[in-house]
Amino acid sequence: MGKRTTRRVGKHIIHLSAECYPVAKVGGLGDVVGALPKYLQQAGLRTWVVLPWYNKPFVQQHAFDAVYTGTFQQGSRPLEMTVLKEQNDVLGFELYLIKIPSLLDRDEPYGYADEGEQFMAFQHGFLHWITETAIVPDVVHCHDHHTGLTPFLMYYCEQFAALKKVPTVGTVHNGQYQGWMDWNKAILLPPFDTWKWGLLDWDKTINPLATLIKCCTAFTTVSEGYLGELMTQANGLEHLFAMERAKGVGIVNGIDTAVWDPERDGMLPHHYPLGRVQSGKNKNKASLCDAYGLDPKKPLVAYIGRFAGEKGADLLPDIIERLLGREDADLSIMVLGSGDPQVQGAIAHLAKQYPGRLGAYIGYQEELSHRIYAAADFLLMPSRVEPCGLNQLYAMRYGTVPIVRSTGGLKDTVHDIRDPEGYGIMFNDANAADAADAIVRALVLYADKQRMQRLRKQLMALDFSWDKSAGAYINLYETITVFKSHTGK
Ligand code: ADP
Ligand code: GLC
Repeated sequence: MGKRTTRRVGKHIIHLSAECYPVAKVGGLGDVVGALPKYLQQAGLRTWVVLPWYNKPFVQQHAFDAVYTGTFQQGSRPLEMTVLKEQNDVLGFELYLIKIPSLLDRDEPYGYADEGEQFMAFQHGFLHWITETAIVPDVVHCHDHHTGLTPFLMYYCEQFAALKKVPTVGTVHNGQYQGWMDWNKAILLPPFDTWKWGLLDWDKTINPLATLIKCCTAFTTVSEGYLGELMTQANGLEHLFAMERAKGVGIVNGIDTAVWDPERDGMLPHHYPLGRVQSGKNKNKASLCDAYGLDPKKPLVAYIGRFAGEKGADLLPDIIERLLGREDADLSIMVLGSGDPQVQGAIAHLAKQYPGRLGAYIGYQEELSHRIYAAADFLLMPSRVEPCGLNQLYAMRYGTVPIVRSTGGLKDTVHDIRDPEGYGIMFNDANAADAADAIVRALVLYADKQRMQRLRKQLMALDFSWDKSAGAYINLYETITVFKSHTGK
């Protein structure tokens, strides 16, 4: 193995994920896996993150050591693998990338026809590597369905028997996506105890998310509210979540305050501390409005996110028409996102219809997202499903008032200003009329300059850092290592 720069002080935790910021990020999963391990490492745990290798700038710009090379069979196909370790632990934990020509050497994490083979190879390759090199961690922590087969393979494949006693955590970032695969793919898995095939199955398909929930020692959801919601709304897995409820824990995500800090954020044209939130936001707003032809004197409502049904993005065109269609409309809207082509087309069309009132960027742009969080007065999230949501947390950190549908993690992290302690605007149903009404409430609030000023300071002072939630994960690791050593489960 390559040289280690990190001292072994506590339990050894390995995170397996498809994303990790700043190596590869598609959404919040990347943010969480880029931040939580750093906090765990700082708390004294020896923390590794293992990812597929991607052809990304971070990978090209950093030095890596090849710490393992080997071959394993995926069905009848021999796969050659290399494990690369980032030399200097620049991310604050040890980062390992698994490279396999033609499967784990891609530009993006998702969107390939053979995604099933891709993530099977990732998980199989990981287990092959650690068993061949006699690495036995204290906990393997699997994120979402892409890594959902790992506990099953650890517990029911003879070749990985050395890992049978290692406890596993499965984190559900999003229960809507489950990684379904036809049963004919089973021959691509390493040989397993066929008596246990039922653990792979849900409704006659291989369902890696279901397998994760069935086989892991404990599972977590990214907010407490979402754990409760999964019992009744889990894209077909409601019954499973209800059955396995006893081993589930809701732990709300935090944010990486080193990356998301309006006082130091290198992506912002103007920095601002809490004490200068008003003038700082005004300057950032002026710069963004200038770039998108918007009037900086008007309240600015923003949307940032994937154009997906879960996010309620399909409601945006209707919401925009309801607000900007009126002659007396006294606001500007800024949209940053991509996804559903119909929504993309509708937003692009509306931006032409309402120049000077609607600014839009269709695509993914990390820097622009930071600029919008800092510039906007309000951030809209009309989500149908929101397991945690990070956008509202970033918005609040930048003194921007969240306008959110009351669901999942949004319900857990935002409180309506109708409550004297409240600091956001909430609405109950995911429809355009209710979202537009909530925005009208925001405009009334905006007119009260003193209240806005107080609210911005209140928002910036809220603590959404990882410290507390990382502690909850550490407690969970403690509990399950003791539990598994006693019961073997
Ligand atoms: P999800 O993971 O479901 O997409 P989250 O709220 O957890 O939702 O996280 C979304 C993350 O992705 C945030 O960091 C947000 O700023 C970022 N993001 C989403 N869409 C874009 C985009 N088009 N450009 C830049 N960042 C984006
Ligand atoms: C998922 C969820 C989102 C959550 C993120 C990180 O993508 O949709 O709500 O914040 O994972 O856990």
